[in-house]
Amino acid sequence: MHQMINRFADKGEMLPRSLSELYENIRDFFVIRDGERVIACAALHVSWADLAEIKSVAVAEDSQREGAGAQLIKACLKEAEELGIATVFCLTYQPGFFEKFNFAQVDKMQLPRKVWTECYRCPKFPDCDEVALVCNLEV
Ligand SMILES: CC(C)(COP(=O)(O)OP(=O)(O)OC[C@H]1O[C@@H](n2cnc3c(N)ncnc32)[C@H](O)[C@@H]1OP(=O)(O)O)[C@@H](O)C(=O)NCCC(=O)NCCS
Repeated sequence: MHQMINRFADKGEMLPRSLSELYENIRDFFVIRDGERVIACAALHVSWADLAEIKSVAVAEDSQREGAGAQLIKACLKEAEELGIATVFCLTYQPGFFEKFNFAQVDKMQLPRKVWTECYRCPKFPDCDEVALVCNLEV
């Protein structure tokens, strides 16, 4: 996961994640494996009683466009629903991908302030150039 995420991050396609960050949040992750190899990952991170974020969505280059990303987003949304969390958001450079799963673009300033606590750790802070999207679930 670390290699895959940071390979995309080096190309500016997503934000980097440190090893310690991945270990601290390891229970948030869904992965898809091909044998021993992790070919895709995504995390659902709970931010508040009614709010969660989908983070670090990555599918290995040679496994893209085969439905792995869709499987992961659906797993994250299903888990949010099971937890009774009504709103799932993401910050991404690929809004079109998330729009396939009922996410709609919103002004970043509409996201609750709780979200910004983590932004202090982001290398891009305060010049965030990602697009914010929100998916409202029926819970
Ligand atoms: C974006 C990414 C996660 C998509 O994963 P994937 O496994 O290739 O996507 P899927 O095959 O599951 O595609 C699901 C649907 O989304 C569409 N889609 C895939 N990538 C897309 C993109 N970048 N923009 C718009 N739509 C996209 C597919 O065409 C498919 O649509 P369909 O159901 O109408 O056929 C993958 O390309 C990736 O890891 N990219 C590099 C890292 C990255 O950009 N992560 C984004 C989150 S920060």
